Order: sequence, then C-alpha cells, then structure tokens
Amino acid sequence: MSQSPPSEKPPHMSQDEKWLAIDDYIVESFLEDDPTLSAAQAACDAAGFPAIQVAPLQGKLLMMLARALRARKILEVGTLGGYSTIWLARGLAEGGHVTTLELDPRHAEVAEQNFENAGLGGQVTVRVGPALESMAALHQDNAGPFDLVFIDADKPSTPDYFDWAVKLSRVGTLIVVDNVVREGAILAAQSDNKHVKGLRAFYARVAADPCVTATAFQTVGHKGHDGLAIVQVTQTP
Ligand code: SAH
Ligand code: DHB
Ligand code: MG
Repeated sequence: MSQSPPSEKPPHMSQDEKWLAIDDYIVESFLEDDPTLSAAQAACDAAGFPAIQVAPLQGKLLMMLARALRARKILEVGTLGGYSTIWLARGLAEGGHVTTLELDPRHAEVAEQNFENAGLGGQVTVRVGPALESMAALHQDNAGPFDLVFIDADKPSTPDYFDWAVKLSRVGTLIVVDNVVREGAILAAQSDNKHVKGLRAFYARVAADPCVTATAFQTVGHKGHDGLAIVQVTQTP
C-alpha cells in the first residue's frame, strides 16, 4: 500500500486564499518594484477608472511575447489608461511602435500622459474612436501587418476585433485576447448575455478559421478567475 506523502498544503487556507497567496509569491519572486507602472496606475486610480487593467504578471507576458517576436508593430484594442500598453511598448524592438485604440477620449488623455511620463511618448500612438472603425481605417491605410495584437476592449465585439486582427496580420502574428473565461460564464451556451455571446462567438470563429491555431489558459489570482487566449496566424487566407 502506498503511503500518501506528507501534505504540503498550507493549512487553513481556502482555495481563493491560496490562489492569492500564490499570485503574491510569483509577483515577489519575479517582479521588481516598478515606479513607472505604479505611477501610471496611480494616475488611472486618480482619474476614477475601473481597475480592469491586466495583472502585472500578465503585462509581463505581453512584453515577453513582443520580445520573442522581435515585434516592430504592435496593435492594442482597448487602452484604458495605458497600463498594458506600457508593458507592450517595453517589448518593442528598436524603432518599433505601438498603436492603441480607445473609444473614450478621457481614457486616451490619461494614457497619453502616462506614456509621456514613461518616456514612451514617441513609441505609442493612441487612436481615439470606435475600434472597429479604427481597424478598418488601419487596414485601408495598409498600416499592417502587425506582429502582435492584444484585444482587450468591449467583449461583445471581440469576434469582430479578431476578424480585423487576422486581416491586419502576417503568418506568425500572435493575437492575444483577454477575458476569455470570465469565471466560467463562457460555459453558458444558451446565455443571452452579450459579453458571453461575444466570447463564445470568438471561440467558434477561431475554431472554424483554417488560417489560425490557438490555445487559451485560465488564470487565477488578484484579478479573479479569467483567462487569456493566444492565437497564431499560420497562413494567409
Ligand atoms: N488594455 C487595458 C484595459 C482596457 S479596458 C489594460 O490592460 O491596461 C477596456 C477599454 O476598452 C476601456 O478603456 C474602454 O473605454 C475601451 N473600449 C470599450 N469599447 C470600445 C470600442 N468600441 N472601441 C475602442 N475602445 C473601446
Ligand atoms: C472587465 C473588462 C476587462 O477587460 C477586464 O480585464 C476585466 C473586467 C469588465 O468590463 O468588467
Ligand atoms: Mg481585460
């Protein structure tokens, strides 16, 4: 009979407490104090923006993906105060540029100030307006192909952002999509919730698209239970 190993579970911790403690442990292990990002976040808080920016460890993933791709052109859909944008811009190759799309002029204004303060003013352009219109205009202007696209705006439009992202891509481009789990809400196949419907339509479109391959993973910690999808363009239509 095999003896079970001594339990190494921290005692008296609920599952949620454990996710948070592990998140803290990884942050303490792998992230350094970051006055630039702290200042950007403080400006977002002072402006009264909702705290829906990516978690620090997720921001760092975006930076590392950009570096791995040697990205020179990055597109972001949904700027808020530019927290994720700063991570993306830090991953740019020499001479590279981030274009970030934002509907709310107030958000764009705070973001632009944050980019200036971060010394990234020359590397980031905020385009104000509905992202679907901005993406159509970028396509019209031949602004692509982008090496990396991060989709993180209104969820009902996620499938349409994805379609535009593919049009603005090359073979090898990574399209990262935030909030693809929403505490499991995406399991509700019959849901009338427009966010859930949008995200499920995104999964279906990716699954049906012969030009891409995809993965997604669940995330837990201070942002709750959610997930990120990573889609790679494998061929042109
Ligand atoms: N990526 C940011 C968070 C973005 S929050 C970060 O991690 O730091 C989502 C943003 O999308 C909000 O600022 C919201 O104003 C913007 N948004 C919502 N609908 C939009 C639309 N139709 N076009 C462009 N931006 C939109
Ligand atoms: C919401 C939006 C996000 O992009 C996110 O990462 C978390 C929450 C929201 O609208 O509630
Ligand atoms: Mg998000």
